[in-house]
Amino acid sequence: MHDQYLQAMGITRWVKRELDPVSVDDETVEVKEEIAAPKPIESNEVELSVVQTPESHQADNLAWPELIEQVKTCVACDLHATRTQTVFGEGSQQADWLIVGDAPGTDEDIQGKPFLGKGGQLLTAMVEAMGLKWEHVYITNSLKCRPPESRDPNEEEIAACHVFLKRQIELLQPKVILAVGRVAAHNLLESNEPMKVMRGTEFTYKDTGIPVVVTYHPAYLLRAPSNKAKAWQDLKMAMRIVAGESA
Ligand code: URA
Repeated sequence: MHDQYLQAMGITRWVKRELDPVSVDDETVEVKEEIAAPKPIESNEVELSVVQTPESHQADNLAWPELIEQVKTCVACDLHATRTQTVFGEGSQQADWLIVGDAPGTDEDIQGKPFLGKGGQLLTAMVEAMGLKWEHVYITNSLKCRPPESRDPNEEEIAACHVFLKRQIELLQPKVILAVGRVAAHNLLESNEPMKVMRGTEFTYKDTGIPVVVTYHPAYLLRAPSNKAKAWQDLKMAMRIVAGESA
């Protein structure tokens, strides 16, 4: 079984797959300062629910259940208007590994789970090739909502959503964060460097001391399988970090 995942990572032989179309658009969309209309209060009814507005958007000190609720009701950027549902992330809240991608796509938006489809299958192969079980891993995205037409997230959306990712990291306290793809790497490292510069170096997330390792996005590896060997080097570096060895 393990061999099968190693094979999927191209370590013993390449697996030919259909290619996924990957958006390369980098449109920027202004964040609209829209205030959500408050629910009308019936006479004799006391309004108890908290209505979120872009201004009330924060995640400091929230525990998992409140954070999940806060993400579900978020209206901090325009993506709330086009999403089917938010995609918070999934996995063990005790995980040593946090994997961060870019944003939900069409299937993820419909099913409310991250990394479905062929990209998700390859990510599973990457996880299994490292010998990890799902209880060791938490998976989420830089954005919790799907950008329309599955275009790349823009800077305003990433900045608006970062409070949620930051809080997920604080709650989880992973031993390593694996940033899969350029969008996640730029978000976590507050960098604009190309992948070739970010890969192969151990970074830390802000001032937390939590190590960040950058690797290719599975959707990119499906299009460019010759880079799977390099991705495997990145995964091995992350494994050494978690094992407490020098990267
Ligand atoms: N790509 C990502 O980065 N995340 C998903 O959840 C799906 C596709």
